Amino acid sequence: MSTPLIDIRGVTKTYMSGSVETRVLHGIDLQVARGDFVSIMGQSGSGKSTLMNILGCLDQATGGTYLLDGTDTRSLSRAQLADIRNRSIGFVFQSFNLIKRMSVAENVALPLIYAGSSRGKAHARALVELERVGLAGLAKRTPSQLSGGQQQRVAIARALATDPPMLLADEPTGNLDTQTSDDIMNSFRQLNKERGITIVLVTHEADVAAYSQRLVRLKDGRVLYDGPAAEGLRQLAASPHLPSPEVPA
Ligand SMILES: Nc1ncnc2c1ncn2[C@@H]1O[C@H](COP(=O)(O)OP(=O)(O)O)[C@@H](O)[C@H]1O
Ligand SMILES: [Mg+2]
Repeated sequence: MSTPLIDIRGVTKTYMSGSVETRVLHGIDLQVARGDFVSIMGQSGSGKSTLMNILGCLDQATGGTYLLDGTDTRSLSRAQLADIRNRSIGFVFQSFNLIKRMSVAENVALPLIYAGSSRGKAHARALVELERVGLAGLAKRTPSQLSGGQQQRVAIARALATDPPMLLADEPTGNLDTQTSDDIMNSFRQLNKERGITIVLVTHEADVAAYSQRLVRLKDGRVLYDGPAAEGLRQLAASPHLPSPEVPA
């Protein structure tokens, strides 16, 4: 078997505020192969964003191991982590996180400029990515002149500008209406199928998770389910309100 793109074993995360410890992840195992399309679901506070921040090398685990494409992330310096983030991972957020005073094209070009491209090359590449998400005609506008769905497309183009193998998306449709959310999810599906981009996406909504092949459900910092999305969503629909076993009936 080839090396998984993501290979985490026994990952724990404890936040310290003053002398108060909050243990958020209690030993997560997760392997994601190249070309996978995985949704992560779980109640608010179950640790989804904490896990995504670790996967994205924005934060480090307290315990356990994280191999990213075979490289042990614990052995990397801050600079090396930043470099991996830039080259290997595209991020998409709920709130789009576009820079308001820059044009759409400048927003998409920015990661390339950070990675050392000339302005000219970065701009040309940005236009190619914008074309791919159907927004080439809007390159000169600013983000505030676009709809929410269009802004999220710009964010996707920006995430893909450096041609990373993997996209991490934390509730990317959380601020969008149902129709727009379906459009964005169709874009993710197309990126996965046609470009082979590995996608790990957090969502609250079963309709969104249904676009992925695989579902991981978290509960209180542990993996409750990891398997085919269709089966996981069927189980979820059958028992959404079951009290947890530790609560007496
Ligand atoms: N920087 C932090 N410091 C302390 N506690 C945190 C921090 N970030 C998150 N938490 C806590 O960790 C738990 C999980 O948070 P999070 O990963 O954001 O959950 P989710 O994304 O599933 O809603 C929550 O109880 C949250 O309050
Ligand atoms: Mg979250």
